[in-house]
Amino acid sequence: MKRSASLALVGAGAAALGALTLPVHAAADGAAIFGRCAACHTKTGAGVPGVFPPLGEDFRVMASSDAGRRYLGLVVIRGVSGPIKVGGKPYAGVMPAQATLDDASVAAVLNHVGTEIAKTGPAFKPFAEGEVATIRAGGAALSAQDVGKLHAGAGGQ
Ligand code: HEC
Repeated sequence: MKRSASLALVGAGAAALGALTLPVHAAADGAAIFGRCAACHTKTGAGVPGVFPPLGEDFRVMASSDAGRRYLGLVVIRGVSGPIKVGGKPYAGVMPAQATLDDASVAAVLNHVGTEIAKTGPAFKPFAEGEVATIRAGGAALSAQDVGKLHAGAGGQ
């Protein structure tokens, strides 16, 4: 009786510890998070022409400028709705905001795309969690349509 009660206590303690440490270090697995992007952009990031844009060279080009990095962060945080052109093709759909991703997760998934999915284009400089926090704070009032309007100045083609 006594023994199982103290074992239960140890278990509860471990669970509490897990709950305390999880939000800080978990969820930054960019490859796993990309699974949700792949539902639309496909596993390879090739996308579906005219419907879901590819995450390819355009992504790396945009990630090489400040305006482009802000746009990419906001696309994930706020969503995006065109008309936009990607790789010369028009898109006028809606990407829903990925609102459940915290700053570390947004950085991780963008870094996964920049290194494992978009393999051509300029050298990729990884996003930091703090950079994403700044982008999020600055874009809190933007709608998906507002983000779409930032596309033209973001360096995409
Ligand atoms: C429900 C489908 C869907 C999901 C899920 C989704 N996207 Fe999108 N995404 C879109 C659509 C549609 C567009 C283009 C919007 C338009 O037509 O204006 C887009 C646009 C983008 C763009 C802008 C491309 C450019 O060149 O301007 C990026 C970057 C992007 N998505 C990244 C992601 C990432 C990263 C994830 C996962 C965290 C993700 N998307 C999840 C549908 C989706």
